Amino acid sequence: MKSELLLVLVLSLCVSSKPLSKKKTYNKLLLISFDGFRWDYDQDADTPNLDALVKEGVKAKYINPPAITMTSPSHFTTITGRWIQDHGVVHNLMFNSSTGVIVPHKRTLTKSEWWDNGVLPLWITAQNQGLKTASFFYPGGGVNYSGQAVDRSLVESNGHPDDNETEWRQNIDTVMRWYSEEDFHFVALYYGEPDNVGHAKGPETPERRKIIEQIDRVIGYLREAIEKNGLTDRLNVIITSDHGMTTVKKSPEVNEIRLANYMSFFNLSEFELLDYGGFGMITPKEGKEQEIYDALKNAHPNLRVYKKEEIPGQFHIAKNQRIQPIVLFADLGFNLNSRIILYINKGDHGFSNHEMDMKMIFRAFGPDLRKNFLAEPFDSVSIYPLMCKLLGVTPEPNNGSFSDTTGMLLSSAPLLSPCAPSACASSALCLAVAAARSSSSLWRSAAAFFSCSA
Ligand SMILES: *[C@@H]1O[C@H](CO)[C@@H](O)[C@H](O)[C@H]1NC(C)=O
Ligand SMILES: *[C@@H]1O[C@H](CO)[C@@H](O)[C@H](O)[C@H]1NC(C)=O
Ligand SMILES: *[C@@H]1O[C@H](CO)[C@@H](O)[C@H](O)[C@H]1NC(C)=O
Ligand SMILES: *[C@@H]1O[C@H](CO)[C@@H](O)[C@H](O)[C@H]1NC(C)=O
Ligand SMILES: *[C@@H]1O[C@H](CO)[C@@H](O)[C@H](O)[C@H]1NC(C)=O
Ligand SMILES: [Zn+2]
Repeated sequence: MKSELLLVLVLSLCVSSKPLSKKKTYNKLLLISFDGFRWDYDQDADTPNLDALVKEGVKAKYINPPAITMTSPSHFTTITGRWIQDHGVVHNLMFNSSTGVIVPHKRTLTKSEWWDNGVLPLWITAQNQGLKTASFFYPGGGVNYSGQAVDRSLVESNGHPDDNETEWRQNIDTVMRWYSEEDFHFVALYYGEPDNVGHAKGPETPERRKIIEQIDRVIGYLREAIEKNGLTDRLNVIITSDHGMTTVKKSPEVNEIRLANYMSFFNLSEFELLDYGGFGMITPKEGKEQEIYDALKNAHPNLRVYKKEEIPGQFHIAKNQRIQPIVLFADLGFNLNSRIILYINKGDHGFSNHEMDMKMIFRAFGPDLRKNFLAEPFDSVSIYPLMCKLLGVTPEPNNGSFSDTTGMLLSSAPLLSPCAPSACASSALCLAVAAARSSSSLWRSAAAFFSCSA
């Protein structure tokens, strides 16, 4: 009796939403990341395709990277929906503070022990739920998670040129074949630009505007390729990045930070990760933590020093064993130089994710996404639950909020179907569905009528 009453409620919800049958198969998804694509890079370059996508899809004014605004930490937050302290990829470099071994970024891309810390990226979760997934150069795609590899993975080789437009188009053709001929459901595609040009030439240069125009042409090529492959009504696309870029401030314009001016590395430091943009860490020699802290705390007006236990909680980095006892952030544009200033980059990142220059681009378009929709800024950690929703994948526990992106969806009714168990794990409605399912044959016939899976 009670469950029948609840059933009426459930059915009235089903009736008031659109027919559910059409949504039984989910559309495919392509995630594209352009490394170092700052949120506003389209505003001073000729970008007809990115501009068209604003009308044809969703644009967020900008989105927030996680607190360590570096390539591997940020990409892994996007693909896992977890804060850096949870997924453990705390730097582009893999390191061991006891042995002093540092593994360069490109070589970390095939080292499972750096990425596989118990948090599953979307590829693996989706595969375990029956989907076919691939990584095309995306950071973290080339390793195993609990022994499981991504269905298909291409890893960028060392010295691979990042800016070859012909190859960029070929890579799109390859991905389109994966969807149309091999029925892949989810591909994460990575491009190494405009990061390289941003570092080498600086973000406010003609060279950077030129590479943005190259990226825009390739996005135009993508739009044509989607059409040509008959994927227009079957493929959702998210275009985003991992961090922004800012101009490096140099002497004599500013007083550069050189930490050896204030402390003896030889006497106090066991290990350090410095000379790498605006974020750094120091492992003190035994008993020397306070001495380093005192030496650096008020040493330079543009240097912020934290003991690990002082790191503000909203950074979401402190609770990881790979974070070393002393953590340093430099103000926007200042490099954390250790002993000598050998810095050759004209642009860099790694600065606070509150700085506008670190914010990243977000666009999305496809059959499930609204047109001409401007979304408010949100944290990149929320891309993950959006991707899960679009793919019909039950997400792993994560730190994103679907409420950040729910307004982007053309019709949230089918995707939020009360009949999909994943959509209502904790709601009273779900209990009603479960009760009705287990107790009433009336439910089964009603469910069949409304094409809910029973
Ligand atoms: C660092 O290397 C040492 C010696 O090989 C090893 O015992 C230790 O587990 C390593 N630490 C980390 C965090 O990998
Ligand atoms: C992943 O696992 C497979 C099968 O065990 C193995 O052949 C491959 O080398 C592993 N890859 C990495 C990056 O560890
Ligand atoms: C660019 O890529 C194309 C296709 O892979 C290749 O044929 C060409 O040699 C590349 N050009 C350069 C300058 O590397
Ligand atoms: C390092 O410590 C030694 C011994 O305490 C001291 O003599 C020396 O001046 C210190 N070096 C620096 C650079 O502070
Ligand atoms: C992030 O999500 C994980 C998994 O649900 C959770 O354990 C953790 O407490 C969350 N972190 C924060 C800061 O809420
Ligand atoms: Zn990057």
